[in-house]
Amino acid sequence: MPLEIIRNDITKVKADAIVNAANSSLLGGGGVDGAIHLAAGPELLEECRGLGGCRVGEAKITKGYNLPAKYVIHTVGPIWQGGNNNEEQLLIDCYKNSLELAREYQLETIAFPLISAGAYGYPKDKALRTAISVIGDFLLENDMAIFIVVYDKNAVMLSEKLFKSIKEYIDDNYIDEQPKYRRNIYEEAQMHLMEDLYTPVKKQGKRSLDDIINNLDETFTEMLLRLIHEKSMKESEVYKKANVDRKHFSKIRNDVNYNPKKTTALAFAIALKLNLDETKDLLLKAGYALSRSNKFDLIIEYFIESKNYDIFEINEALYAFHQKTLRE
Ligand code: APR
Repeated sequence: MPLEIIRNDITKVKADAIVNAANSSLLGGGGVDGAIHLAAGPELLEECRGLGGCRVGEAKITKGYNLPAKYVIHTVGPIWQGGNNNEEQLLIDCYKNSLELAREYQLETIAFPLISAGAYGYPKDKALRTAISVIGDFLLENDMAIFIVVYDKNAVMLSEKLFKSIKEYIDDNYIDEQPKYRRNIYEEAQMHLMEDLYTPVKKQGKRSLDDIINNLDETFTEMLLRLIHEKSMKESEVYKKANVDRKHFSKIRNDVNYNPKKTTALAFAIALKLNLDETKDLLLKAGYALSRSNKFDLIIEYFIESKNYDIFEINEALYAFHQKTLRE
């Protein structure tokens, strides 16, 4: 999965490089900086002394010494002063320049902390959104496994507004007790299909009757490739937007009967910007259904209904509601 938000102490992450939220002296400090220097040992400080500091938004690389990571990329984030002092651009530069260095050193994995979101006071949800959008753009053009390492358990990462509206959607739609007679997923999915077959009027966004009849025996892979073609999208664009790596996609592409995990099928539905009915169809091909008694499904439904297909924002939301993220 090209981008993953994980909860860990970054000094424990075994990536090719971990990124240090340093200050311009590069001579250590508290927070991430302190933890990295402590874990790496005194040789790291020795090497940093020779770097002559680092400007805000810039990045410099050293070895990792006693850290599990081979390298440390030191970058200096902006101090938050209310948002009108070019803070966002400087933060963007931190991620861009660190990723540039990682690419130059041909690294395959890199882990970021939430730069500036600690002592430098950058609001966590804004810091995360910036990190995700810069990394997301980078991943459209580059193959790398990138981690955003969140340290404090209750880092509020979603804007309060979005958090509240998802919570309302869940409260309005969640069926918390299992219905007495619980249709199994096949029945649930077949019900959805039958409902379509007998829906007299073609509602906005519903597929036509012959669409359904003609594609009844289509496999997941066939439907996925058909939709990519119908939406005249490039395959690489779709699997990158679905946050699926190239190797995994070719496995799907080359196996007409490939059976994906539910989260992978949903990630493709999001990448293809399918509406709710098309999403249910695609899930059905893989033997899944969306369920009202599953918060994960409701959050996905919320985003599809609101036509918000930003997979990183969806993962942030899933993460904030302690659900697994859309991953392989
Ligand atoms: N692993 C992962 N994330 C961590 C860790 C850790 N071990 N320790 C702290 N964090 C998180 C914080 O919770 C925060 O969300 O990293 C984010 C960045 O916090 P800081 O380390 O305070 O970095 P920053 O806000 O960029 O301030 C940099 O603080 O430590 C000094 O020398 C540093 O002067 C510089 C300033």
